[in-house]
Amino acid sequence: MTSTNKKSVLVIGGGAVGAIAALNLDLGGLAVVTLVLRSNYEAVNKSGYDFESCDHGTVNAWKPSVVRNTIPNITRESLPPYDYVLLATKNIPDIPPTVVDLIAPALPKNNTHTTLVLLQNGLNIEKPFLTSHPDTPVLSGVSLIGSAEISPGQIIHDEPDKLFIGAFPHPSIPSTTLSALAQNFVAIYSAAHKTQCTHSPNVLHDRWKKLVYNACLNPICALTGLDTGRIRLADGALEALVKPAMREIVEAAKVCAGVELEQGIVQWTIDMDPLESYLKPSMQQDLEKGNFIEFENLLGEPLREGRRAGVSMPTLEVLYGLARAVQWRSKEARGVVGVPRRQ
Ligand SMILES: *[C@@H]1O[C@H](CO)[C@@H](O)[C@H](O)[C@H]1NC(C)=O
Ligand SMILES: *[C@@H]1O[C@H](CO)[C@@H](O)[C@H](O)[C@H]1NC(C)=O
Repeated sequence: MTSTNKKSVLVIGGGAVGAIAALNLDLGGLAVVTLVLRSNYEAVNKSGYDFESCDHGTVNAWKPSVVRNTIPNITRESLPPYDYVLLATKNIPDIPPTVVDLIAPALPKNNTHTTLVLLQNGLNIEKPFLTSHPDTPVLSGVSLIGSAEISPGQIIHDEPDKLFIGAFPHPSIPSTTLSALAQNFVAIYSAAHKTQCTHSPNVLHDRWKKLVYNACLNPICALTGLDTGRIRLADGALEALVKPAMREIVEAAKVCAGVELEQGIVQWTIDMDPLESYLKPSMQQDLEKGNFIEFENLLGEPLREGRRAGVSMPTLEVLYGLARAVQWRSKEARGVVGVPRRQ
């Protein structure tokens, strides 16, 4: 295959998840990868990434074809439109800029060429794009991966990259077209034969299933400061917090999306990682680093869907209120909001 047959892929976000995706796409040889970085740009541009990876072994000083610290404006820079734009940043809609504003310069006007791939968690993440770019096909990437960036450009990858790709339903693009785009992306991603990337058409099933963890254990660990092992040991936490929250998600999945999650999904999710791994979910890691948390798409959207459908979600209501207040605390710390001073 000549290089002209390669697909051009713009990967936005090169943290622990985006870097592995970019590496994997590059190694497969079917993609020319441009990677947009922010905080780790200096380190990666100078020395490349170093990976210790369960899928790829030790890889040192790796860089994709192009590394940038800005989103390309394809109009201003006269660049051909990308075949795929893969978004692997955190999704924090309550903090500007929104992901829609972020990627806008990289998409053609009234785009029909570029397929968007959202490698992000949570519910309804495609909705803003269907409004802002109504002709753009949008794919869902649900990733089960254990990886961390321990310092800029240094990636430890200790749980295999398992990626489920499917198309979000689209009001005007035929499902056969969407399905072909999803399968093409799976082929490009799988070409290195290092990871498990599968076409999984039931996007809502995959997303609700992951919410059993992400809307429940993730914020509960963040808010209590207890990792997924300690929350299982903590007095009463599973029965009072974790299981009720998970049962609310299971019910909402059924009522809102017609998604019947597997029997035993609650206990399965609790037991997913060995207790002794004492893993910290992403929101807990983010809070400890003083970062904003992704609570709106992980917790707010399933709660709002459930409310609209009349599902009783008392545990998630409280978790959402607490998460929102904690986010406000981070906003004040970062100067995004201020408090009135005594006159
Ligand atoms: C991209 O650049 C063009 C030309 O300079 C400008 O008009 C346009 O607003 C830019 N697009 C975005 C989304 O920033
Ligand atoms: C883009 O779409 C809008 C709304 O559908 C339309 O009014 C406009 O003419 C289109 N522009 C181009 C360049 O096709």
